[in-house]
Amino acid sequence: MQGSLGCTAASLPSFSAPTVQRSAASPSQHSFVGIMSRCPKMRKVFSTLEKVSGTDATVLVLGESGTGKELVARALHRLSGRKGKLVPVNCGAIPEEILESELFGHEKGAFTGATGSKVGRFQLADGGTIFLDEIGEMSPKLQVKLLRVLQDQIIEPVGSTKSIPIDVRIVAATNKDLRQEVKAGNFREDLYYRLQVVPVQLPALRERCGDVELLSNYFLEREAESLGRPGLHFTPDALRTLMQFQWPGNVRELENLIRRLAVLSDGDGITDEHFPEYIMESSGGPSSDETEVYELPDSGLNFNDVVDSFESNLILKALHRTEWNKKAAANLLQLNRTTLVEKIKKKGLEKFRTEHEVSHDPIRPDFSMAN
Ligand SMILES: Nc1ncnc2c1ncn2[C@@H]1O[C@H](COP(=O)(O)OP(=O)(O)OP(=O)(O)O)[C@@H](O)[C@H]1O
Ligand SMILES: [Mg+2]
Repeated sequence: MQGSLGCTAASLPSFSAPTVQRSAASPSQHSFVGIMSRCPKMRKVFSTLEKVSGTDATVLVLGESGTGKELVARALHRLSGRKGKLVPVNCGAIPEEILESELFGHEKGAFTGATGSKVGRFQLADGGTIFLDEIGEMSPKLQVKLLRVLQDQIIEPVGSTKSIPIDVRIVAATNKDLRQEVKAGNFREDLYYRLQVVPVQLPALRERCGDVELLSNYFLEREAESLGRPGLHFTPDALRTLMQFQWPGNVRELENLIRRLAVLSDGDGITDEHFPEYIMESSGGPSSDETEVYELPDSGLNFNDVVDSFESNLILKALHRTEWNKKAAANLLQLNRTTLVEKIKKKGLEKFRTEHEVSHDPIRPDFSMAN
């Protein structure tokens, strides 16, 4: 399941996990207004946000579910220095008639059940920012009304003839391909261009080099603090597994998994054994993908330990495959048989021989030169 898209995960050997793994880099070093990343693609996003934050330009945030679109909207509002509030509206979760009065407000008697007047969210956001989430779900009728707000900076409450001027910065977001929606006739082209004055495309987590490790450690540290368990950490194997998984649900999925692992783990070390099966199955073993890169954890690594572990891993694989026939295993590894036997002894690999493999060779003395 290794993707050919961006960066694939590290393939550090999985044989032993002797040391505690925690990010040595300070989280703040990789934080942009609470958005964690050390990926160059995200740094470009941060630079765009920085440039646009002090302006009134409408921003359209695009990205798969769970990639941090709301986080970006919050960051933009904080950086803008606008005195008003950030008012979020989920356009996909509210039926059309209710959404209209939610956004623009209504007058008393505007429709059945309108027993009083109501101030809309655009007015609540006056002097601040409105975050129109799931904008791709907005009905054609409301798209027309929104276009007028963007053009004239005025709103008209439902059932009113009054035009109320507003000063609101608009940030919209969607996980839909809006261009495609325009082509399909579901989204107005003029509104699309008005909204995407500054488009911000968030890369999926699988395309962000190094972020899975950074975010995993960041979320675990956060959980460790809230649970009062400062020793919580991932073993190197566990971190490697997390880095190899493709994360269809992106950062939210990773965050939720880590929350669950932190709460359910008994000891301080979170290992592969704590992961749900689907993570282990999809992470698989080392990939043969040619685009694979080896990542160096923030905390560094002990070169000799890692190389030693890698060697042990390969030897064990060869031994398992040949059912502990050392001559055949030595051939597989293109090693001299005596060299292999010495390595097995030095590394104490005999203990990894399974019962099934032992039963194949009942008279075999440990590290004998017998086979
Ligand atoms: N780079 C990041 N650093 C830290 N936390 C992040 C980051 N990206 C996302 N998160 C966290 O992941 C979760 C999902 O983020 P958010 O709600 O912003 O995503 P979204 O793109 O709006 O998702 P959806 O499309 O489902 O609405 C949140 O809890 C958020 O705090
Ligand atoms: Mg969201």
